[in-house]
Amino acid sequence: MIDVRCICAIGQRGQLGLNGQLPWEGNTDPLFVEDVTRFFALTMGHVLIAGPKTVASVPDFAFKDRTIDVIRSHEYPEEVLKRYPGRRIFVGGGITVWNVYAKYIQNWDITRLPYDGEADRWFDPAWLVGGALRG
Ligand SMILES: NC(=O)c1ccc[n+]([C@@H]2O[C@H](COP(=O)([O-])OP(=O)(O)OC[C@H]3O[C@@H](n4cnc5c(N)ncnc54)[C@H](OP(=O)(O)O)[C@@H]3O)[C@@H](O)[C@H]2O)c1
Repeated sequence: MIDVRCICAIGQRGQLGLNGQLPWEGNTDPLFVEDVTRFFALTMGHVLIAGPKTVASVPDFAFKDRTIDVIRSHEYPEEVLKRYPGRRIFVGGGITVWNVYAKYIQNWDITRLPYDGEADRWFDPAWLVGGALRG
């Protein structure tokens, strides 16, 4: 079985993204900083696959110590996952990516942060059981 995982952070009501960034981007509260640090620690040395907007938001330093692959909607998920035999693959979003790849994810690591403001991208709890409600 391929080791396919997800680490993500959500706001109090499932907020995921805003204007192409994390909704709480720039928040220097230790809880938010710790969450980002933890994401980079846990994905270090592994593979991160994600859609173009999510990859565009990844800082340059992160490309040095993990394999980051921009995935596209014309690619078959099974073919994408087969590119990395023996590697741990994190599915990094965004929404339509998780809609399609949720069924392959065996481990969800979700941090619920103390943010309750605006968002234009939302977590779909159906992903946890391999599906998608919001499409
Ligand atoms: N809070 C968190 O942990 C977290 C994590 C990740 C992202 N985000 C946020 O989410 C937002 C970005 O996500 P997004 O959904 O807007 O854009 P995205 O990351 O570009 O992901 C969506 C794109 O993925 C591509 N894709 C690749 N494989 C696909 C497939 N099999 N089926 C469908 N689409 C596929 C599609 O692009 P093409 O059709 O052009 O190929 C689609 O438009 C940002 O605000 C970001 O900060 C938050």
